[in-house]
Amino acid sequence: MSYQVCIIQSDKKETHQVEAGEELIKVINESGFYLPNYCGGQGLCGKCRVLLKPAPAAKEQDQELLSSKELEEGVRLACLHQVEDNIEVKIEEGGDINILTGEEEVSCSLNPGWQQINLDINEPELNDQRSYLTRILANAPANDIEYKALDQLENLVAQNKNSSQNKEWGSFAGIINEDRIVKLTSATKPAKLLGAAVDIGTTTLVFYLLDLETGRQLAVDSAYNPQKKFGADVITRVQYTQGNPEGIEELQEVLVAGLNEGLAATAASIGAEVEDIYRLSLAGNTIMLHTLLGKNAEKIARSPFVPLFSEQLTFRPQDLAISMNNLGEIELLPSISGYVGADIIADMLATGVGSASEYQILIDIGTNGEIALGNEKELHACSVAAGPSFEGGNISAGMAALPGAVDSFTIAEDDFEFSTIKGEKPRGICGSGLLDLIGGLLEVGVITDSGALAKPADMPSYWQDKYLELDEVKALELFSSEEGQGGREIYLTQKDIRQLQLAKGSIRAGVEILLDEAEISYDEVGKVYLVGGFANYLDPEMAAKIGMVPGEVSDRIKQAGNGAGAGARMMLLNKALTEKAKSLQEKTSYLELSSNIKFQEEFTKQMSF
Ligand code: FES
Repeated sequence: MSYQVCIIQSDKKETHQVEAGEELIKVINESGFYLPNYCGGQGLCGKCRVLLKPAPAAKEQDQELLSSKELEEGVRLACLHQVEDNIEVKIEEGGDINILTGEEEVSCSLNPGWQQINLDINEPELNDQRSYLTRILANAPANDIEYKALDQLENLVAQNKNSSQNKEWGSFAGIINEDRIVKLTSATKPAKLLGAAVDIGTTTLVFYLLDLETGRQLAVDSAYNPQKKFGADVITRVQYTQGNPEGIEELQEVLVAGLNEGLAATAASIGAEVEDIYRLSLAGNTIMLHTLLGKNAEKIARSPFVPLFSEQLTFRPQDLAISMNNLGEIELLPSISGYVGADIIADMLATGVGSASEYQILIDIGTNGEIALGNEKELHACSVAAGPSFEGGNISAGMAALPGAVDSFTIAEDDFEFSTIKGEKPRGICGSGLLDLIGGLLEVGVITDSGALAKPADMPSYWQDKYLELDEVKALELFSSEEGQGGREIYLTQKDIRQLQLAKGSIRAGVEILLDEAEISYDEVGKVYLVGGFANYLDPEMAAKIGMVPGEVSDRIKQAGNGAGAGARMMLLNKALTEKAKSLQEKTSYLELSSNIKFQEEFTKQMSF
């Protein structure tokens, strides 16, 4: 038996015929809608809220995680319910996520290993019987030709039978890769020679299309990583493959499909085709790159956390079923370890960390915080589990940077101001808002240095009025049901503060351990680069205020945007950087922190504000 499921999100509405018993969250995600699922559909995070009509009976976890008002209205957690009726599903959290693309062009030398040049040849004569190919090769920095290009030569020669009738006889253009002719056209119709770089993030994919002849950036596009339907973070996705032999293939298939879709859309946006793309440079974390190649990443998820590969690798498009020119090449940047991936090498290329004479720190903040510290002589790196707090994952009112998310707060003793993305009524709080909120509450004494909500009597009276207990958990009511979008009450709970403390404590402890490893002090650090989506939107002063980065270097903090995207583009344009990337990889000494006692001690210390 099957039922009709009508899914609505913002202005998108689709109806699907679905077999009875199918999981609702699967139906929604496979239909291409965005639904957060931080806990991978285990009914723990409470983020997969949907409004159902008719609403099925609420399950125990629905009752635990949703307010009575929401339950009454028909809001349920999609991961707990199956299709058992014709049903309308309204996804509350919609709109376009604020994806950090980095539209500005990168600056680096142009040496992609691909070029297009004019190849003029003379018409054969009786006393010059050299082959057509010999004539071409005599003028080209090449000594070989692809079979397909030989076909093109045959056609061009056939079209150019008679020079007396065709003034352009013998005027060809050739695309050459290293010493091989890949494509031949008439010089009057030269081909497009394009390259693409993709930053494969756990949540998003960012596509850049560049002209390999000039180095100019032609288009930028972004999309959700379609693997998110298997879980919001890499570990949940790896877990999906455990005991599910088809899981690895599924992860690969959806990612390749997402890449192909993005490449086609980016090319189409400038009137080009995917066949015009000859070089593709990819950066991503180690697990993303494993899943792209259809490789089991299970060993990265458990001790001793060893990846199958960490090298810089090159493939032909058909190896991975990537839609681009079949004679093109795909290059994967090298990784450092299972948890410090090719995205960090790309960050290093983009920021110069590891190449400068001064010591510099790189902090990439996501579910994992990846940290590197070094100069041209030495490099140290580590990874810390920061948790999904900055992406809204384990925060009661947390959400991604979507319309309606409070992205900034200004806190005073007797008031607070805020702004939301797109100016909508507040629907939740995203990472930068959370940082502002907690930093501000610390300043006015509502939160103590240990991270506890102060006793109400010790708070300014304005905040005393907002204090309450929710199921014995201390909290502040920030927005009432009248103020919140869709009647949602928005709180900051003691648990939320603890989650932020865990995240900021682990990042700061990682920084301290690396400084110790390099045996240097903060005075010797020239710059601190914050990279990644969240890092770019946070207020550096607040990051220092809550102690996520040391106050001593707050004047040296630089927000470097999407470093992984910039590094992948540099690698696309300049093949010589392959060697640079390899040397960064080789000189980085990776510090495993999961069993490091010093780290545990430092982490405990850094939990306080
Ligand atoms: S509660 Fe449904 S995905 Fe987490």
